Amino acid sequence: MTRRAVCAGLAAAAVVRPAFAKSATELTARKASVQLAPEGYPATEVWSYDGSIPGPMIRATQGARLQRRLVNALDVSTSVHWHGIRIDNAMDGVAGLTQSPVAPGASFDYDFTLPDAGTYWYHAHTNSMEQVARGLSGPLIVDEAEAPDVDRDEVLMLDDWLIDPETGGFMEPFAHPMMMSHGGRTGNLVGVNGRFDFALTAQRHERLRLRLINAANARIFVLRLQGMAGWTVALDGMPLPAPETVEGELVLAPAQRVDLIVDVTAEEGSPAGLLMAQDDDSWVALADMTVSGRRARVARPAPAALPPNPRTDLPDLAQARQFEMAMEGGAMAGMESALFEGERLGFRELVSRGQFWALAGQVGRSDTPFASLSRGETMRLRLSNDTVFPHAMHLHGMHFRELRGDGSLGPLRDTILSLPQEPLEIAFVADNPGKWLFHCHMLAHAASGMTTWIEVA
Ligand code: C2O
Ligand code: CU
Repeated sequence: MTRRAVCAGLAAAAVVRPAFAKSATELTARKASVQLAPEGYPATEVWSYDGSIPGPMIRATQGARLQRRLVNALDVSTSVHWHGIRIDNAMDGVAGLTQSPVAPGASFDYDFTLPDAGTYWYHAHTNSMEQVARGLSGPLIVDEAEAPDVDRDEVLMLDDWLIDPETGGFMEPFAHPMMMSHGGRTGNLVGVNGRFDFALTAQRHERLRLRLINAANARIFVLRLQGMAGWTVALDGMPLPAPETVEGELVLAPAQRVDLIVDVTAEEGSPAGLLMAQDDDSWVALADMTVSGRRARVARPAPAALPPNPRTDLPDLAQARQFEMAMEGGAMAGMESALFEGERLGFRELVSRGQFWALAGQVGRSDTPFASLSRGETMRLRLSNDTVFPHAMHLHGMHFRELRGDGSLGPLRDTILSLPQEPLEIAFVADNPGKWLFHCHMLAHAASGMTTWIEVA
């Protein structure tokens, strides 16, 4: 197994600069030089939070109040979205919908409580197609009042970067028509926590909690554990009612998270870590784990479920309001026309305006919401993916469940992977008032049509 395909021909080690010193309640968006490519290659000029890739880990206890002053030291406007947090709408960070963009030199005070424990993340939500690809994202961890019994808790932020190893610069324009109309911007350098050679060390029989976050613009990670065995305990921050044994592959679409509790089973010196599938179906190490020594073997039972988060009512399907949303457009799908800024335009006209996709016949966010719900109502939304691409559909402000074909309800999620020609249905209780985006988290798709919103009043 070689790492070559992961780093596209590069070899040797990468080093990330340590986080810039700052006051505890500020988060500064600024340029920085970070060694994303292996050492010996030029560093990359990124847009960062506090100078590091990923941004600083923000960590608090469930129920706590989080206050961060975003200081914008970039030359462009920005804003921060706290992905997956059931947040006060005014703090959701969507420029043009829930707040004004924060101008260069200006600041904005984010101040909200964290109702749910779990694995979340934060990222730019102003021109996010470019700003997230340039580095504006970081982990947000909300700890349970009582942590599960593990030896260590590790956060692994998975990402990819499209950079030229000769210059260290980002390659290709961020608004790239070919990427927008196809699978989005995927990188040639894949890594964890800002390093392409991220590695863990562990002892045999150690029990770890691994929090995986997919921060990539478009890449769907297909993962496998090596030298570890364990359980999935939470998805998109929300605990599963019972831990599920990890068997086979884990699929992590853009913006999704998975919390695992794993026992290290590998012998000292034998290969272990997190593997990822490549396009040709071969597997490479995404994160190596060096197993040294062993702990005394304590027979540990399977972990208990994490304590459930509050306010997770089951949707009332009988009283639900039903909506349909066709996902259309992109290359090779033959979308004829759609509404854009109040006009019906043919596909070629849309393309000439840099737009490629439509949700329910509408390209991009219009002035009126796709759906208006009263607080407490249940929304059922049937999605048909009439495109030839997968899409990672994300709802702000509330988690939903998949309504499966057999009538059962899936786990709470904030982002779901929709596959071509496979209709799916989601349902949720609209219990958080405000204006909430619903969009594809392949950020080039979101920027070229796949964004809409709902209102809960
Ligand atoms: Cu993680 Cu609208 O985004
Ligand atoms: Cu998409």
